[in-house]
Amino acid sequence: MSSMSPTPAETSPSRTAAVIPAAGRGVRLGPGTPKALRALGGTPMLIHAVRAMAASRAVTLVVVVAPPDGAPEVKNLIADHSLPEHTDYLVVPGGATRQESVRLGLDALPEDVSVVLVHDAARPLVPVDTVDAVVEAVRDGAPAVVPALPLSDTVKEVEPGAPGEPEPVLSTPVRARLRAVQTPQGFDRDTLLRAHKAVAVDGEGATDDAGMVERLGASVVVVPGHEEAFKVTRPLDLVLAEAVLARRRANDGF
Ligand code: CTP
Ligand code: MG
Repeated sequence: MSSMSPTPAETSPSRTAAVIPAAGRGVRLGPGTPKALRALGGTPMLIHAVRAMAASRAVTLVVVVAPPDGAPEVKNLIADHSLPEHTDYLVVPGGATRQESVRLGLDALPEDVSVVLVHDAARPLVPVDTVDAVVEAVRDGAPAVVPALPLSDTVKEVEPGAPGEPEPVLSTPVRARLRAVQTPQGFDRDTLLRAHKAVAVDGEGATDDAGMVERLGASVVVVPGHEEAFKVTRPLDLVLAEAVLARRRANDGF
């Protein structure tokens, strides 16, 4: 009965893609090569991030958003490194803010993608279990899913002042209710596209995609993040990243 044969959409109900914004300069890391192209354990941070996404069986497409003038270089990097073959790779040039870079990545998604992960190139060491947990929560019906961890520091809201000047404290949110959010953040594709169409954030743009979905009024849930999904932002983070890699290599040796 040909009417009963499955359509392609039924055989692969939710193709999952990962968009990796990697177009930032890395000002806080200090002068030099764009952050995503700097080496960690001899391999560019971006390649670690691509491997981390492709390590998930669910992810069949990775869209890398390269520095605006760096797409050819990033294409070469991807061609030069061994990456899982069950995954396709696309490279597009990025924009002036993270929000714009993500939007440019979303523009490149083919029609058949229904679940989208957005993952910072600056979080090169996220374990595959974290990626899978996010994908699973989206496939289970959550429109937006964020991996996050409780904070160790108490957080204060201040009135920002001149650099170096004491700043008045406005409030101290209850720490137990706060979470530090990581990536990959996972989304139902239509929800994320709607958020990027509807939400304009001035200045630096949105630093997090789930926040844009919240502004739409859609629900966002948190799943457990992982210590190793930390963001490489400042020089000391590079020291930590090298240490994590060294520990992984040592463990693999046994
Ligand atoms: N990003 C991007 N396009 C931009 C700015 C940032 O794709 N115009 C990406 C970065 O490459 C990074 C992620 O967004 O993978 C998170 O941003 P962040 O850690 O702030 O990186 P940078 O913006 O590069 O660093 P800095 O803010 O210190 O310059
Ligand atoms: Mg930035």
